Amino acid sequence: MQRKTLIIGACGQIGSELVRILRAQQGTDNIIATDIKASNREVVDSGIFEILDAKSREEIRSAIERHNIGTVYLMAALLSAKAEQYPEKAWRLNMSSLFNVLELAREGLINRIFWPSSIAVFGPTTPKVNTPQHTIMEPTTVYGITKQVGERWCDYYFSRYGVDIRSIRYPGIISWRTAPGGGTTDYAVEIFHEALEKGHYNCFLSEDTRLPMMFMDDAIKATLDIMNAPSEDVLIRSSYNLEGVSFSPGELVASIQEHLPEFTVEYNPDFRQAIADSWPNSIDDTPAREHWGWDHNFNLKDITAEMLTKLRQSSMI
Ligand code: SER
Repeated sequence: MQRKTLIIGACGQIGSELVRILRAQQGTDNIIATDIKASNREVVDSGIFEILDAKSREEIRSAIERHNIGTVYLMAALLSAKAEQYPEKAWRLNMSSLFNVLELAREGLINRIFWPSSIAVFGPTTPKVNTPQHTIMEPTTVYGITKQVGERWCDYYFSRYGVDIRSIRYPGIISWRTAPGGGTTDYAVEIFHEALEKGHYNCFLSEDTRLPMMFMDDAIKATLDIMNAPSEDVLIRSSYNLEGVSFSPGELVASIQEHLPEFTVEYNPDFRQAIADSWPNSIDDTPAREHWGWDHNFNLKDITAEMLTKLRQSSMI
């Protein structure tokens, strides 16, 4: 019998897309969506959904045993901006959830794990432009620390126990169905909503803060590509650098203004500016491209057109 897939953090920005795509690809009943709250109607109503606390190993164990789970996507986490407000909570959630699935995999209950890392593993001492896969990593945010430590544990569990864990360092993810929450790159989603609703946006990062970004469709493609790759092609078991595009708020505004010439923006950087300043401007993702064939489809122009079209069509606006 085919072993099923468990998605932890299924109501979030990326989790909800994974649920939708994997239910379509593998059959609704083969995807078990779980989250701490039933906060996404589509996820909850479109198949099996359970409340699950990722900090509880016993709750995860129970879900795995009851549903005959083989693969786990661990998408629950507190993101960068939120984690700065609640450092201990972020440490507890981000680390204990990872440890739980790694331990259950070591026990033999899980065949394969996906765990997302982030560009937040880098810090102010990291080379900023075309940041290499292997480089200085001295993150200054709680979120970055949890992701960097997590990467070390992933590599350790693979080398020591043979746990088949796969990971990518997501850049900022731009999506229209489900909004992100608590991140520093969230401006790049908010701006589209405000452009359409109000014609004006108050940006919490400065005009020239360049960050690596990616459209959701590319992020999902990367996630499924690495999960479906033959094990021998996944040569890095900490986490892979990944880039789609890289742009600043000013460049994004110019791109939106090509469609909405009246759109205006003011820049009032807040505490998130310091987080963004500690991260790379752009990422070198050569190993992902060489090892398992990663390639992106959406550039800034495509992302802008797609976001405006889809948001207009959706009931949100
Ligand atoms: N998008 C994330 C954040 O801003 C980065 O991984 O926190």
